Amino acid sequence: MCVSAVPVGAPAAPLLFLLCLLLPAASCPSSCLCASDIISCSGRGLSSPPAGLPSYASRLDLGHNALRGLSASWLPEPFRRLASLVLCKNAISQIQAGAFALTPHLLSLDLSSNHLTFLNTSVFAGLTELEELLLIGNRIAGIGPGSFSDLIGLRRLYLSSNRLTDFPIEIYEGPSGPRNLTHLDLSFNRLSTVPVQTVMSLSLRGGVYLQENPLLCDCALLALLQYWMWKQYRPLVDFREGYPCRGADSFNCTHVGVSDMPLHVQTYHADPGGRIRVPCPGLTLLDWVESLVFWVTPKTALNSSGSDPTSRLAVLPNGTLEIRGALPGDSGTYGCAVARERYLKPGETLEARVLVGNSSTSSTTGPARRSSTEHFNTAFTTLASCVVSIALVLLYLYLTPCRGREGRSKDGTGCSGRVMALCSDPREVESGQRRSNGKRVAFLEPPAEELCRTMNSGGGILRSETRTA
Ligand SMILES: *[C@@H]1O[C@H](CO)[C@@H](O)[C@H](O)[C@H]1NC(C)=O
Ligand SMILES: *[C@@H]1O[C@H](CO)[C@@H](O)[C@H](O)[C@H]1NC(C)=O
Ligand SMILES: *[C@@H]1O[C@H](CO)[C@@H](O)[C@H](O)[C@H]1NC(C)=O
Ligand SMILES: *[C@@H]1O[C@H](CO)[C@@H](O)[C@H](O)[C@H]1NC(C)=O
Ligand SMILES: *[C@@H]1O[C@H](CO)[C@@H](O)[C@H](O)[C@H]1NC(C)=O
Repeated sequence: MCVSAVPVGAPAAPLLFLLCLLLPAASCPSSCLCASDIISCSGRGLSSPPAGLPSYASRLDLGHNALRGLSASWLPEPFRRLASLVLCKNAISQIQAGAFALTPHLLSLDLSSNHLTFLNTSVFAGLTELEELLLIGNRIAGIGPGSFSDLIGLRRLYLSSNRLTDFPIEIYEGPSGPRNLTHLDLSFNRLSTVPVQTVMSLSLRGGVYLQENPLLCDCALLALLQYWMWKQYRPLVDFREGYPCRGADSFNCTHVGVSDMPLHVQTYHADPGGRIRVPCPGLTLLDWVESLVFWVTPKTALNSSGSDPTSRLAVLPNGTLEIRGALPGDSGTYGCAVARERYLKPGETLEARVLVGNSSTSSTTGPARRSSTEHFNTAFTTLASCVVSIALVLLYLYLTPCRGREGRSKDGTGCSGRVMALCSDPREVESGQRRSNGKRVAFLEPPAEELCRTMNSGGGILRSETRTA
């Protein structure tokens, strides 16, 4: 059975009709809407997956239902083509080990707005291809060791609005696990401290979101935030009011001067195998004994307290970076982060350039170039999101949601406003939730957001039109 979700006259209707003709003569469960390989059974009050789900599905939406747990056999048969699975806004509190063994090729999994409290060690076993995992709006207070060890392909992890009190460092420090994370959202949790050096090195690869946590403003965090502000790091700049260490700082960091900032990035040369000492730009340590100085290298981050005598790169107690046995691969831009008396001005730099040998492999990003590129990026992003928003509004005017959703929002608990915005149908999203909380959901990248909405509006049409808009 195939039901058109698009009113006649909407531009997408002929396409959907074509999809219907191409559908294999398989059945669609009566509580679902099937369009090609996209199955939506959202908002039907289901306490288990309906019988007869077509196993060729590539997307399955079981959001806004009443599932309570996922056993190892919660799906009747393997779904080998399933790439995205939406389980948001259910009441899932238990996931048994191996629950996703029947869907081994998942790329995206949405478990937002459920009742998860703890991620057991093997919950995500076998999901080696998973790229995006949404766990927003649960009650997660702990993550078992190795829970993420199979998720080696994970790129985006959303843990916003949970109850984490400790930074989930085990995600990065286990023997295996996600090594290519580019987006980690830990906002709206209960973190009071973060491992600054790890976070600094993670942020080299992408976005780390920490806003709206009860973070204590200590000297290490201030060093991080000042460095991010100077770099105009979007996850901080966009949510500045959600971070501590604003305005007049009344904490007791060692006084560190910022006098005589060189206006231009200094370049330090060395021959291969030689030793380079790079002083922290503009740093005049009045009392350097207790200062914690971080250096952000092209690949990682270091600090002055954890100096390993055997390592080639070390931060000396006075904040100077020392590179021994320099290699051409050490060439690049290095940033020095330390809690300073004031935030830096754009003309001041805290970066230095290192050039080993006479190769010109080092990057040429000076402050001027950096800021002009970022301004361009910002303007472009703003324009692009504006166009996409207009396109979505127009689409919502033309697309009616699939069938009735009488029972959908009867359960008003366990789902905060911004999470509702991700999980609710497009009409609700546009009429307020999203607008009022726009800033808060803005850090979700398009694929995640598009996904939940696409499924809720009844087909892949919306997605393809969004792309071409
Ligand atoms: C984790 O495992 C324990 C015992 O093995 C179980 O009681 C608990 O419900 C599990 N938690 C989840 C979220 O599945
Ligand atoms: C991680 O990224 C690197 C470089 O982009 C790539 O070579 C590697 O295959 C990726 N690893 C995984 C598990 O995706
Ligand atoms: C400083 O470096 C050491 C060794 O790498 C590390 O254990 C420690 O957590 C770092 N300190 C901070 C505040 O990140
Ligand atoms: C830091 O210490 C090293 C070695 O002790 C010394 O060579 C260097 O001049 C010092 N740098 C500054 C800026 O004081
Ligand atoms: C510098 O580059 C020239 C060629 O451009 C090469 O002949 C010379 O050996 C290089 N010197 C060093 C120290 O690498």
